[in-house]
Amino acid sequence: MPLANGFLTEHQANNEYFFELEVGACPNCHMVQLVRQPERELMFHDEYAFFSSTSKRQQEHFKKLATKIQSRYCSDEDPFVVELGSNDGIMLKNFAQKGIRHLGVEPSENVAKAAIRDGVNTISEFFDETVAQRIAEQYGLANTISAANVICHIPYLHSVLKGVKKLLKADGLFIFEDPYLGDIVQKISYDQIYDEHVFYFSVESVSNLVQMHGMEIVDVEHLDVHGGSMRYYIAHKDRHEVSQSVGRQLSHEHLLGLTHQQTYNQFRQNVEQSKVQLVTLLQALNQKGRVAAYGATSKSTTVTNYCGIGTSLIEYISDTTPIKQGKLSPGAHIPVLPYEHFSNEYPDFALLFAWNHAKEIMQKETEFLAQGGKWVIYVPSVGIVNDSL
Ligand code: SAH
Ligand code: TMP
Repeated sequence: MPLANGFLTEHQANNEYFFELEVGACPNCHMVQLVRQPERELMFHDEYAFFSSTSKRQQEHFKKLATKIQSRYCSDEDPFVVELGSNDGIMLKNFAQKGIRHLGVEPSENVAKAAIRDGVNTISEFFDETVAQRIAEQYGLANTISAANVICHIPYLHSVLKGVKKLLKADGLFIFEDPYLGDIVQKISYDQIYDEHVFYFSVESVSNLVQMHGMEIVDVEHLDVHGGSMRYYIAHKDRHEVSQSVGRQLSHEHLLGLTHQQTYNQFRQNVEQSKVQLVTLLQALNQKGRVAAYGATSKSTTVTNYCGIGTSLIEYISDTTPIKQGKLSPGAHIPVLPYEHFSNEYPDFALLFAWNHAKEIMQKETEFLAQGGKWVIYVPSVGIVNDSL
């Protein structure tokens, strides 16, 4: 596999980085994770391609989280909130606007700079135990440390948790959310598996992990973002009441069979079947009309490379992110073109790579359907959608 966000110029395409993408599950602690991951500097740098604020729905999502953090956990005199992987400031700007003490830790310099321009206090560092110690000395302890779609990106998890333990107030909360293993298995969303996502968490595996650091999960919340995510509320042991939702979710995971090898054998078969179905459908659709794709997501890199989908099956990928436009998609080298290319002359079929943003996209793309365009999806199953999703 290439880097999921490694969009390339024509020149760079001749010398592309590839690595072996492989997932393993630990029979003891039940963590599901990549067997190997590229160097972090290859993935997170000053040309990082993912800007969180491109999605309006995500802006709303993080505004709600900010409101919750502020109303529930910031009642003391001079609260301090920290966010890891704060990206372009999508969440913390809500605190910056209110003059509440905050700090973003964001190693990808270009997105960190966008946040700073918006008045969000940000340091461009990879969070770990050493950085946590420094923040604690400089700013004091945090009421909350939050992280969305970040913790699953960091292979040195124990250092992160030691850092969280040091930086969090005695009654503070570490709140993080990531794509949920239960959803990946149920929806066959194998495209969540790519270089940046080193961990595929469940309540079971996170619970085992935080216990090793004298902490516990006190609440969990299933979220309808990024194709199904779980938000974990973690506290120092015995400092908060544990919500019943934790036990309920653990029972649900046992029903799903998340700790059984057989579940993953079945998952593998489902993924292989999905691949055959998608390629067969795209081949048939190319006989009928023009086929493009919508959203040059990180996930799409897994789909195109795993299924062997190139320009013979997809003409181009439309994407609103300027840094991706005019480049070639990783590995498959499909041109990524600005949204206008799509809307000026609609294709007959659009493969929805940004399926996790389906609601938002369906709301704005009524004209595509009105002109006879059809959406092609592959999660949770391969098919053509005639009406809105
Ligand atoms: N929180 C945002 C961004 C998620 S993308 C959102 O949910 O939309 C993942 C982010 O984590 C990237 O911006 C990346 O630069 C950052 N990141 C990667 N490793 C990190 C680390 N060790 N510490 C803090 N942030 C990290
Ligand atoms: P994500 O799945 O990692 O959030 O990435 C979504 C990608 O899809 C990102 O590159 C922006 C793009 N996108 C569009 O092109 N149009 C849209 O309407 C939305 C919501 C996203």
